[in-house]
Amino acid sequence: MKKTILVTGGAGYLGCILCKTLLEKGYKVRIFDKLFYGKDVLSEVLKNPDCELVVGDVTNIERYDKLFDNIYAVLHLAALSNDPSCDLDPEMTEKINIEGTKKTAILAKQHGVKRFVFASSCSVYGAGDQILDESSQLKPISLYAKSKMITEKDLTELMDDNFCVVLLRQATLFGYSPRQRFDLAINLMVKTALTKKQLYIVGGGEQWRPFLHLKDSSEAFILAMEAPSELVNGHVFNVGSNENNYQIVALANLIKAELAKLKHDVDIIIVPSDPDKRTYNVNFDKIQSVLGFKARFNAIDGTKEIAEAILSKQLDDLDNSRYYNIRNVQEWVDLPAIEGGEPSRWTFLPFALPLLGEEEENEVIDTLRSGWLTTGPKTQRFEKMVADYLGVKHAIALSSCTGALHLSLLALNIGKGDEVITTPITFAATANVIEHVGAKPVFVDVDPHTLNIDANLIEAKITEKTKAIIPVHMAGQPCDMTKIRKISIKHNIPVIEDAAHAYGAEYGGKKIGTISDATCYSFYPIKNITTIEGGVLATNNDELAAKARILALHGMSKDAWKRYLPDSKDTGSSKETIKDSIHWMIVDCGWKYNMTDVQASVGIHQLKKIDRFIEIRERYCSMYDLGLKDLDAIKLPEAIRGIKHARHLYIIQVIPEKLKISRDELVLALRKENIGTGIHFLSVPNHPYYANKYGYKPGDFPMASKVADNIISLPLYPKMTEEDIHRVIAAVKKIVRHYKK
Ligand SMILES: Cc1ncc(COP(=O)(O)O)c(C=O)c1O
Repeated sequence: MKKTILVTGGAGYLGCILCKTLLEKGYKVRIFDKLFYGKDVLSEVLKNPDCELVVGDVTNIERYDKLFDNIYAVLHLAALSNDPSCDLDPEMTEKINIEGTKKTAILAKQHGVKRFVFASSCSVYGAGDQILDESSQLKPISLYAKSKMITEKDLTELMDDNFCVVLLRQATLFGYSPRQRFDLAINLMVKTALTKKQLYIVGGGEQWRPFLHLKDSSEAFILAMEAPSELVNGHVFNVGSNENNYQIVALANLIKAELAKLKHDVDIIIVPSDPDKRTYNVNFDKIQSVLGFKARFNAIDGTKEIAEAILSKQLDDLDNSRYYNIRNVQEWVDLPAIEGGEPSRWTFLPFALPLLGEEEENEVIDTLRSGWLTTGPKTQRFEKMVADYLGVKHAIALSSCTGALHLSLLALNIGKGDEVITTPITFAATANVIEHVGAKPVFVDVDPHTLNIDANLIEAKITEKTKAIIPVHMAGQPCDMTKIRKISIKHNIPVIEDAAHAYGAEYGGKKIGTISDATCYSFYPIKNITTIEGGVLATNNDELAAKARILALHGMSKDAWKRYLPDSKDTGSSKETIKDSIHWMIVDCGWKYNMTDVQASVGIHQLKKIDRFIEIRERYCSMYDLGLKDLDAIKLPEAIRGIKHARHLYIIQVIPEKLKISRDELVLALRKENIGTGIHFLSVPNHPYYANKYGYKPGDFPMASKVADNIISLPLYPKMTEEDIHRVIAAVKKIVRHYKK
């Protein structure tokens, strides 16, 4: 019965010839290939009933469950080959060449495949000044060669008596293939000699390379596959012939001489360039003595073959990118994933993630074991730390920023019939709390450069009903607090800052939190620091603080820590204090906004990290600024002077006149690149609740509507690595360039 051989990368340059040879020798062939270069290259072999094709990618080879059924041997050619192509995308190289190969071999072994022959490369020798054999030290220079070296090691570890692994370090290939390449030395030299009458030598010309014809390579694979296991298992073989080692200058002269015989005179041009550090003159005795391999074709044969294919027009359109791996890979890398290209990342990068350490974990465990879970000593510690950091008298720890905003309004006695000025570009909570107290939110349009409330437009909206202003420090960038303070003082209207994004920010050398009547922070998981859920109301106003504290817990005169602790300092001996220590009174009709000690446990350690986190965010923002500055179809965020930006969000704006896709399509395209994004925010008056209740139309706040249609927040958080940032930059660049008008 015919044996079935699985050839991965069977539609590649070597694959096409190897599959043909296998079929000629009476094997059945199963080709596994991504068909990066189309299916036509296989048209001849697929006519053979013994040949079948499975279209797929080694990076997810586990999805093809019947792929290894009845397979005797795997000849593994699938790889991203050619050194500069690999350099284009190191992550992709690792996924395909290293992880893809390992996965393939593991699956092959699990399915009882007997033999695994791996296409390695003599380039693993890198730079060697003497003749190199299989025992020579490996000094790979390129990423491609490194990927081959690592994979050789991985495969050797998988080898055993039942799973025979053979590693073939091939010389540089040449010759004609249905999937032709012109980025290999002999093929390229012949092509440029015939089309330009010049033959270029780059990299100095002194460098050594061994060469191998495709048909000889195919023979070597079959020999390695057929040889008794004990002769080859775990062995490395250089594949080539001692006679086909050339210095590039000598090779050029040989090709020139051969083409002269065909009446094609060419000039050899030495292109001044850095010397090619890759040089390897290789010994091929082992494969000859162990497997009886002898190359049948030399560089002259190759020259003739390629010349004939070109002159007979068997190969045409010679500058087409399909002949050049690098150009192909470049086009592939440049094509957005949503259009069928390769995603910029292989795994999904969430829009935001918190960065928590062991300190937080240990503190939470300590709290859980202490038996005291809700508001208690840890919350007190947390509040003290916040107050010290901000330099304020009161920091009230709460369950959310929403709660803090709500309590601020309540503590300022704002309610029915009142108006509160705020911004349309904010999270709905800012406006919702105004509704909760029965007041009316009055929106003032934003400055499109900062996305913050336009302080110049506030006064025009003030009426005798205006009872507070809630500016929001969007993305962590403080609003124009000088102007806002002036308006506040002039009209005697308190200011409640929504600093949900701005813990750690400063304005005019002062911490945000110390300027206005009340400042509210959020410690939601994706904020600059987190308490899981949580918020703080910061104020220097004793009365406001006292009221907010009571309202934060049902309107009770005492919190639980004070109520239940036996040694509460409230305990006294007089009749009044005894009564006081036993009972609590409802002095107002409050809410339930307290922070728990479990949340505070996380917060205590997050607080210590805020300045470092902002530094990292700042650095990543600079990387984005630099990496994206040349894209004129997007506007980058602007930071104003004289402030410390908390760098919570990095918000870019699409310039619709310059981009063929909308912001929403950009979000989807980035999602396909495996990159999560956010939108901060849609304009609040355009949400149905507000539009219906107050009759707002999209044009009412023109700047807000415009930015809301075009903004997109890129991932920005300390848990990201610099490589993550580079990937996001690459993805945005790729998409924006592709869809540029
Ligand atoms: C500007 C703004 N204000 C308020 C909030 C509400 O914060 P929390 O979820 O802590 O209530 C958020 C949350 O995203 C926000 O972005």
